Amino acid sequence: MTLTSRFARLALGGAIALASLGSAQAQDDVTIGFIVKKPEQAWFINEQKAASELGEEEGFEVVRLAGEDGQQVLSAIDNLHAQGAQGFVICPPDVRLGPAIMNRAKQYDMKVVTVDDRFVGPDGEPMEGVPHLGMSGYKIGQQVGNAIADEMDARGWDPEEVAALRITNYELPTAKERTDGATDALLESGFPEDNIFDAPQQNSDTASAFSAASPVFAKRGDFEHWVIFALNEESVLGGVRASEQYGLDAEDVIGVGINGSGAAFAEFSRETPTGFHGTVAVSSTMHGRKSAENLYEWITEGEKPQANTVTGGTLMTRDNWESVREDLGL
Ligand code: GLA
Repeated sequence: MTLTSRFARLALGGAIALASLGSAQAQDDVTIGFIVKKPEQAWFINEQKAASELGEEEGFEVVRLAGEDGQQVLSAIDNLHAQGAQGFVICPPDVRLGPAIMNRAKQYDMKVVTVDDRFVGPDGEPMEGVPHLGMSGYKIGQQVGNAIADEMDARGWDPEEVAALRITNYELPTAKERTDGATDALLESGFPEDNIFDAPQQNSDTASAFSAASPVFAKRGDFEHWVIFALNEESVLGGVRASEQYGLDAEDVIGVGINGSGAAFAEFSRETPTGFHGTVAVSSTMHGRKSAENLYEWITEGEKPQANTVTGGTLMTRDNWESVREDLGL
């Protein structure tokens, strides 16, 4: 190779490098945050991962952050501002933090969309101005109640002799919608209202459900058969673990959750079935991708996403979990 042609190649290479740098920079201009209340839960890991994957495909940056309390959320927003982010997706640790979170975001001129748990304003109503994507809680709750009723039927249980452990979280509207839906479906199937016992949990995880559930079993030792439901499968698993600790056998317990994430897959993969009968699976992959995409398009095209997008679910049990998992891209 002559010196001139080598020089020409170098120059050409430089030009190509510059050109691609130019376009990469244009794409790299967008940075969004994805803040979640429970970064260790499979649902949220999957959601954040799906958002990052979309970012890689579309050429924008996704910064994944934990926001387990108000303080952590506010510093996550400061951190995002320092990284030049134009907005963030958030599942807040407490929906009543909505106004404080929006104030901080406004200071930095950031766009905000919520996923899963919708902000509540000072009037106790959902903050309609913040675009949201979440489950159709009541309907999914009804699917839970119906799945429990069907399984009771299949096991030949007399509803009069069955107790229901309802693990509640009435601070969180989507949680209330879900357990209300499950309750209504159960009652419609002929379940006696007096046999429903509440276990209010502090949080939305397995540990808080376990502590809430244990005393209920201890107090109602007169029942041999139990059904368990809650806002999510992590909490139902807490209830199931408490039933085991109390000494109930798997065949005397029907727990049905919501989410369809790693926690349920691990349970279905056990050699011996447990009291965790099933879960209504929703695509956390879709929640992560779609909420990030809505925000990205809002930033790049100026089009504000619709106020509320709701998603549905599919019952997943030991028998079909692998195929449902595949269908939902989980
Ligand atoms: C809430 C629950 C999560 C998950 C999401 C899905 O945030 O705490 O476990 O169910 O809703 O919308």
